Amino acid sequence: MLYTAIHETNYDTARLSRAKPRERAESKDLKTRDKSLTQEHPCDIVISMKKIAFCNQKGGVAKTTSAINIAAYLALNGRRTLLVDLDPQANATSGVGIDKENITQSIYNVLHEHITPKEAVMETAIENLYVLPSNISLTGAEVELVNVMGREYRLKKALEEIQTEFDYAIFDCPPSLGLLTINGLTAADSVIVPIQCEYYALEGVGQLMKTLELIRENLNERLAIEGILMTLADFRTNLTKEVISEVKQHFGDKVYRTIIPRTIKLTEAPGFGKPIALYAEHSTGAKKYAEVTREILGLPLSSQLIEGEEVAATTEESHGEAIG
Ligand SMILES: Nc1ncnc2c1ncn2[C@@H]1O[C@H](COP(=O)(O)OP(=O)(O)OP(=O)(O)O)[C@@H](O)[C@H]1O
Ligand SMILES: [Mg+2]
Repeated sequence: MLYTAIHETNYDTARLSRAKPRERAESKDLKTRDKSLTQEHPCDIVISMKKIAFCNQKGGVAKTTSAINIAAYLALNGRRTLLVDLDPQANATSGVGIDKENITQSIYNVLHEHITPKEAVMETAIENLYVLPSNISLTGAEVELVNVMGREYRLKKALEEIQTEFDYAIFDCPPSLGLLTINGLTAADSVIVPIQCEYYALEGVGQLMKTLELIRENLNERLAIEGILMTLADFRTNLTKEVISEVKQHFGDKVYRTIIPRTIKLTEAPGFGKPIALYAEHSTGAKKYAEVTREILGLPLSSQLIEGEEVAATTEESHGEAIG
């Protein structure tokens, strides 16, 4: 079985509806929205729920931050979006304002007890954004599912029931290549790999690519790389520029043009249980996540971004928001 194969190949497991007619979001929370994001675009014809896994076995590279905020911007632009929390840490769940201590049905019950996802899905403060929550009980799932038939397909099968209910499903994977991540990759259409702009940024990415190849060969032949998202950038350092250039050499135009800077507002937002769009909608972090969502939707970028990331970062510094 693939799960065994991955462990045998010495992978770093420790850190590793036609969609329903879209209801355009009329968010009461945001006073302004980028109207152009709501326009139909040929790249954004969703035949059924598109499932994107945010995956990197390395910890702390902004998988959860990116999953929450991109899911929020998809929703704010009228795409019915389900954020699926596959991590026992449940940071995506709390990050959209759900108290993880008070969840009655979670992704654990879906994967382990075959309850329908509809029984566990919860609303969030953002219209069109829903969450399939997690809590600490999910820790047991990795072990409890080991001897279960079809264990890698549990999530895929479960989501088939709601395939026509949502435009997008965004999976927040844990920092390992264990069974929960494998469930995510088996169910997903594509993967977004967040990579932190730091030393050894590409360390472990080779292993992740080999895992994706194994998944394609054994479990999900259509799994594509949606994009590589550079995160936690500090444009005052040469290191950030060097890392971005190195990652672009490896992945070419798979790397999103939008690069997410390290900002205080993005650090603070989860503590308030809010996506950045609600916590600080005019912050640089908010603009960048809105922008990368445009890329995912196949929409043109704003001219400010095309002029250069350094400009944006300098502006942010002058407002005292960037983390030193
Ligand atoms: N652009 C950013 N600017 C500042 N802080 C950030 C940014 N992105 C993420 N963070 C912070 O960095 C930490 C790690 O982010 P996050 O939890 O999203 O990473 P992760 O890859 O999901 O981690 P894990 O591997 O543990 O699941 C969090 O405290 C988060 O608030
Ligand atoms: Mg996380």
